[in-house]
Amino acid sequence: MDFIFDTHAHYNDKAFDEDRTALLDSFSESGILGVINCGTDIESSKKSIELSDQYDFMYCAVGFHPEDINKAGEKYIEQIKELSKNKKCVAIGEIGLDYYWVKDNKEEQKRIFTEQIILANELDLPVIVHSRDAHNDTLEILKKYKPKGVLHCFSGSVEVMKEVLKLNMYIGLGGTVTFKNARVPLEVAENLPPDRLLLETDCPYMSPVPYRGKRNQSTYISYVAEKIAEVKNLTKEEILTTANKNASELFRINL
Ligand code: NI
Repeated sequence: MDFIFDTHAHYNDKAFDEDRTALLDSFSESGILGVINCGTDIESSKKSIELSDQYDFMYCAVGFHPEDINKAGEKYIEQIKELSKNKKCVAIGEIGLDYYWVKDNKEEQKRIFTEQIILANELDLPVIVHSRDAHNDTLEILKKYKPKGVLHCFSGSVEVMKEVLKLNMYIGLGGTVTFKNARVPLEVAENLPPDRLLLETDCPYMSPVPYRGKRNQSTYISYVAEKIAEVKNLTKEEILTTANKNASELFRINL
């Protein structure tokens, strides 16, 4: 059995409505050591907290995703701060910049991203960062505020990765490393020092081969670890053990 810590999941998603309880119940017997469920707005952050109340292995992150910032009211920072006081809340996330889906509100995205980083720093919590087609602006903000945290579902080049490592942040890798056209993610995996690696699903999305296109789940991280192990000339167990240790250190969770 593989021992897995999934640092980024969305089990509150409707894709899990039909069998959420059965699936999550099965995890304690399938080697899942921990899962961080990430909020994308207030409602999903509350649902993440609820899930973390229900399962010992479940932790939560609270925050506003760039695609959801239109839902952030005037007092959103106070709301996130209040939610973050939950004892299972281990990070502010997912937060960041996304110029792929939405390009016409860049300044607003940057403001909300920055305000949430400042909150995370104040609370001494790591951030879980989403960055899509926005690596320059993301790096600029991270360099300025220097939070602890991870670039999740990392889609940048090796050069961008090196900038992230200079900031002492982690790189989150998932299903994309197993895709047929995965040249850049595999280069990143190859060059990434093992002590900076986190594993994640981003489920229900980003299923690794052989489940590509289907609903993702934390146990499938085995396929991701296997692929990363292959390019790094390590064993799958070594990759999993190292990534679990990294997650435990960054999110201060005793495994
Ligand atoms: Ni996500």
